[in-house]
Amino acid sequence: MGLLGALGCDQGGTRGPGFEALRSLAALSPLTPPVDRSNRYADDPAAQAFGHRLYFDGGFSGRSTLVDMLGRPVGVPPGRGEKGTLLQLSCATCHDPARGGSDHTSQAQVSIGVGAYDVSSQPSTNSAFNELWYWNGRNDSLWAQILAVTESPVSVGGTRLRVLWRLVDGFSDEYQAIFGPLPVEWSLADQKAVLAADGSCNRGPAGACPLPLCLEEGVGTAAVSCRPRFPFEGRPGSTAGCQRGSSTEPFGDAFDCMAAADQELVNRVYVNYAKALAAYETTLISQDSPFDRWVAALDEEGVDNDGISERAKQGARLFVGDASCIECHSGPLLTDNNFHNVGVPQDGPFVPTEDACPEGFGRCDCVNGKSCLPWGLWDGLSKLKTNPFRRDGRYSDDPSDNSRAHFYDVDLSEAEGLKRRWKTPGLRDVAMTPPYMHSGRYRTLREVVAHYNRGGEAVAGRDPKVVPLLLNDEEVDALVAFLESLNGAPMPEAWVTAPELPPLTEL
Ligand code: HEC
Ligand code: HEC
Repeated sequence: MGLLGALGCDQGGTRGPGFEALRSLAALSPLTPPVDRSNRYADDPAAQAFGHRLYFDGGFSGRSTLVDMLGRPVGVPPGRGEKGTLLQLSCATCHDPARGGSDHTSQAQVSIGVGAYDVSSQPSTNSAFNELWYWNGRNDSLWAQILAVTESPVSVGGTRLRVLWRLVDGFSDEYQAIFGPLPVEWSLADQKAVLAADGSCNRGPAGACPLPLCLEEGVGTAAVSCRPRFPFEGRPGSTAGCQRGSSTEPFGDAFDCMAAADQELVNRVYVNYAKALAAYETTLISQDSPFDRWVAALDEEGVDNDGISERAKQGARLFVGDASCIECHSGPLLTDNNFHNVGVPQDGPFVPTEDACPEGFGRCDCVNGKSCLPWGLWDGLSKLKTNPFRRDGRYSDDPSDNSRAHFYDVDLSEAEGLKRRWKTPGLRDVAMTPPYMHSGRYRTLREVVAHYNRGGEAVAGRDPKVVPLLLNDEEVDALVAFLESLNGAPMPEAWVTAPELPPLTEL
């Protein structure tokens, strides 16, 4: 029995409607990610190897904030340590590449970093294939996503200046071999040696400010001070310009108060760090699953084999047939790269509701549509409009890359239909990546299938394609078995486990 017969698509010699759909599922290995014009290091083996080390390094992460995305306190647990603890989270903490790039460490529906996310983790495996990144699509490249997560006050909680200093201290040779000189040509110990307890620089003999480690500031005005040229911590604040010492700006607004040319040097290093990490992620590809092996054997030899169980084959038929999953989970990665509302409500600890975002609330406002997290794609596209690290921006290696331009200009004032939509996740490795859905409300694949079987929950604007499926228990089992057949073969162990890393010096 050939592929068509095996899947129940061979209708009297004509190719049934399921055939092309299955071919798209079946055109699988080897999967090669699209060329990323915005990152010229993506295919560079040295950058990939460097990125592997950065991926496991805990030195880029900051201190526990123990707040959620709306600034509400998070208990311990599910926090990762008392407020103020230096957590040493790495990308691998929440994206274990030996387990489909998933988060097995968070003790909640959502992911827990220095604070609590508003959503569950998504896998890093296969992320190089994305059209847009994150559940709500607010980034348009793999490296821009890394810039966001590294400084996120609920996730890694680091800063671009911390990244600079960790690279100077632990990775300068590897960095410089790929990206050229670091702007800091002295050691972390040298910098520490000139610092006073208040973070300013000690003056040398005759009151001289130790250049180039420190800079004289405010010459020509009354206040003259000697400060580190590259402070140990700092990221852009919420108010433009220098608010020196402000308690509401990160680290007393240390980054915004730096010389503009030095800020640019730091940004370049920060982007290079992200491009190396993205290069590593480009190699994390799930392939050669039992499902792939079954389909390949059918395709080539026209014979069935024992790659997967009969139950899983029945599930594959349902997936492309009566259950209509393929409407959205299409193509080799089982995603249409689009965004839909499949009736997943905003519920569970730390998952923000629209009511929690009233008019005038600084952190989110669903009345005026300012950072309205529960609106998913709508919110993501509104943030993408002003993202400084886009493919068409000056940090891209090819600003003429207009492959995502159609997302930049979407008119959000009229776009009711974009609200409460979330990205269709790819389903490769899905059995390894619980919890499920953007809110993480399901722990098992059976619960997800049950969700679709009852037509989802009543969420305003739910996609009309999501209707009760009336599957019996056996059919539910079959869909679960099919989903479980999508785990890729293990990747080389040395590539997906922690390499040896330089010791960490506290800043
Ligand atoms: C505390 C846990 C945590 C840490 C640490 C973390 N992430 Fe994530 N990651 C998440 C969560 C949660 C999401 C989904 C966020 C969203 O959609 O808003 C995510 C999303 C992603 C995605 C997007 C996948 C997609 O399909 O759009 C990639 C890629 C990724 N992370 C890579 C990284 C890298 C690289 C690092 C290290 C620099 C990192 N993450 C650190 C939790 C984490
Ligand atoms: C209308 C488009 C659409 C259809 C039809 C659809 N899905 Fe989904 N699927 C999505 C979207 C969008 C999400 C994420 C939803 C969210 O988080 O709010 C999702 C999430 C999932 C997840 C969770 C994956 C993860 O990593 O969290 C699984 C598993 C899944 N779908 C399987 C199925 C199955 C099985 C079917 C058929 C019974 C199906 N889907 C039908 C769009 C669809």
